[in-house]
Amino acid sequence: MTASAGSLLSPFCRGQRRRRSPVFNCLLDGEAYAYIGLLRSPLTNLASTLTTLQQAAVSLRRTFEYLDSPVEQPPASSYVRRSNVEAVFTGDLVFEAVSACYSNNVPALRGISLTCSPGQITCVVGSSGAGKSSLLRAVPRLLELTSGTIRIGKHDTRTTSLHDLRNQIAYAPQEPAIIRGTLRQNLTLGMEAASEADIDAVLEACVLGPLCRDLPYGLDTAVAEWGASLSGGQRQRISLARALLRNAHVLLLDEITANLDPATENEIVSNLQKHYRNRILLMVTHRPTVAERADQVVSMVSGKIEQTTSKQSSQGGSLSVSLSDRDTFISLASPQASPWQ
Ligand SMILES: Nc1ncnc2c1ncn2[C@@H]1O[C@H](COP(=O)(O)OP(=O)(O)OP(=O)(O)O)[C@@H](O)[C@H]1O
Ligand SMILES: [Mg+2]
Repeated sequence: MTASAGSLLSPFCRGQRRRRSPVFNCLLDGEAYAYIGLLRSPLTNLASTLTTLQQAAVSLRRTFEYLDSPVEQPPASSYVRRSNVEAVFTGDLVFEAVSACYSNNVPALRGISLTCSPGQITCVVGSSGAGKSSLLRAVPRLLELTSGTIRIGKHDTRTTSLHDLRNQIAYAPQEPAIIRGTLRQNLTLGMEAASEADIDAVLEACVLGPLCRDLPYGLDTAVAEWGASLSGGQRQRISLARALLRNAHVLLLDEITANLDPATENEIVSNLQKHYRNRILLMVTHRPTVAERADQVVSMVSGKIEQTTSKQSSQGGSLSVSLSDRDTFISLASPQASPWQ
């Protein structure tokens, strides 16, 4: 520091050094160092201002990218918003010859036809990449159809406003989206007016009650971005609780028990069966223990439905489901013959 400051000052002092005494030169050097000291703070401020400006420029660019992105649903006269009463959908969730592809034009769904009725659990099984998550994403129109129709009761999802449509749907995605905030903020995201009784009910249904009671600040405990301070199973259960709190007609659950131990999985599925019987429940799972409790099991391969098996067709017998790494085999079995009982 001294050497570099000296060389910095040398042109400034050189002429004066020739004319003044060494003592005076020392004083002058000290003075110059003091001036440099005074410069330090404004220079630091300038550097931090430049950093802030750069951050603001990036934020501004992202804001413009967002503003320039195409509108998800252009305003059209056919999308008349319904009144609150009319906006409560009832009836089956019906897929009619549904096909869809992502922006890379690779088909993700090919001619899917399926009916899910209220009070029934429909499980979707199949190997990785078969199109299970895409099937769920197509319902709230996170994936647009290229052909075919999806209806909830009498409402065609393509001619219903996204606001009305998504009000009827609760979706727990495969990757739980946890935001930085408190547990409560994460649970009530989009449902800020939820009552304490409703929150307690979903916490119990998702076996989150003990966790919240053990935390020193309970529901006001802070959660890190993407749930980094939580376990995978806790993240999934919070995502499920958030979906259940919406009290929607259609529940779309994508591998919500993938990170849970068998006992917790069993308890959660039992709670879903008990408390959410009058809803449409469409679940993706890789677990035979979950699939065998369904009323209907849909096996997907390469974007198509390979096989649909229902309890009705087995005359009340349980569904015996075996999932290998590469394929899915479903057979009908009597309750006694099921290997998982
Ligand atoms: N956002 C995307 N953009 C382009 N292609 C995608 C996108 N998401 C999925 N796909 C493709 O669509 C196909 C179906 O994917 P999908 O996520 O539905 O599979 P999956 O059955 O849910 O698999 P997994 O069991 O691994 O979750 C795959 O070939 C996948 O590569
Ligand atoms: Mg998936």
